[in-house]
Amino acid sequence: MLLRLKHTDTQRILTLFAVLALVTAGVSVFSWIWALGVATVLAFAGLGFLIAHYHRATEEELVLQAQDLQDLQFIQSAISPVQALPYFTRWSSSPALAARLIGIIKKHKPQHIVELGSGVSTVVMALAARDAGLGHITSLDHDPVYAAKTRNELAEQGLSKWATVIDAPLESVDTPRGIVPWYDLSSIDGLQPIDLLIVDGPPRKSHTDARLPAYELLGERMAPGAHVVLDDTARKDENVSVSAWIKVSDTVESIPSRKGVTIIRMPR
Ligand SMILES: C[S@@+](CC[C@H](N)C(=O)[O-])C[C@H]1O[C@@H](n2cnc3c(N)ncnc32)[C@H](O)[C@@H]1O
Repeated sequence: MLLRLKHTDTQRILTLFAVLALVTAGVSVFSWIWALGVATVLAFAGLGFLIAHYHRATEEELVLQAQDLQDLQFIQSAISPVQALPYFTRWSSSPALAARLIGIIKKHKPQHIVELGSGVSTVVMALAARDAGLGHITSLDHDPVYAAKTRNELAEQGLSKWATVIDAPLESVDTPRGIVPWYDLSSIDGLQPIDLLIVDGPPRKSHTDARLPAYELLGERMAPGAHVVLDDTARKDENVSVSAWIKVSDTVESIPSRKGVTIIRMPR
C-alpha cells in the first residue's frame, strides 16, 4: 500500500483534531453556531493540507519504487545466484546498496573486502567476486544468529570460498573518544590493506555514533584508492561518521536512495 500512516502522519492527524476540539470549545463559550462554522472551516483546511501531504508522499514513494526496480534489474543482469536471494528487508541492505557494491566489485576488482554487518549484501558481493574471479569478503557480524544465517546462505549458493562470516561480538574497544562497544577486530588483524569497506553495522541502538569507529579504527587500514561504502546515510545519526570519511576522501558520491548510500573513494 502506498499510503502508510507513519508516526509523523498520526501526529499530524491528532494535532488537527486537538486544534479543532480546542477552537470549537473556545468559540462555543460565545456562540455554538460560530463554533460550528469555525470548526468546519478548520476541518476543510486541515483535510486539504493532509491530502496535499499524502499526494507529495505518494509521488516520492513512486520515484523510490522506480529506483528500486532499476537497481533490481541491474542486480538481476549482473549476478547469477543458484537459488532465490534472501529478501531485501527493512534491516537488510537496499537494492541501491547491493547494486553499487556489485558495480564496484565488477569494475574495480577489489581484493580485500571487509564488511561490517552481514546479510544479503554479503551474498551478492560473493556472487560478484566469483564472477570477477578475484576478491574475498570478510564480513563481521555481532549477532551469532544472523552470522549463521548468512554463512548458511553462502554455503547454499556455493559461495563459501568467496566470503567468510566472522562472529565478532561487540566488546569494549578503545577509540579516540574513549571506550565504546564495537566489533572485535582480531580476526582481521595483520591482514593486507582494505580495498573495499562496507559499513552497514553495528545497529545504531548499540551506541551513539555507532558507526564512527569504522573510521577511527579502520580509516588508516584502507589501501590507496580504496572504496568505503556507507549505508543508512539518509539518517541524521550517520552525519558525524559521513563527515569524518569525507574529510579524508578523494571523491564522494551520494546516492539519494530510500536509506541513503554514500560512496567514498580514498586518495590514490
Ligand atoms: C543493517 S544490518 C546488516 C544488513 C546486511 N548488510 C544485509 O545486507 O542484509 C546490521 C546487523 O543487524 C542484524 N540484523 C539483520 N537482520 C536483522 C533483523 N531482522 N532483526 C534484527 N537484527 C538484524 C545483523 O546482525 C546485522 O549484522
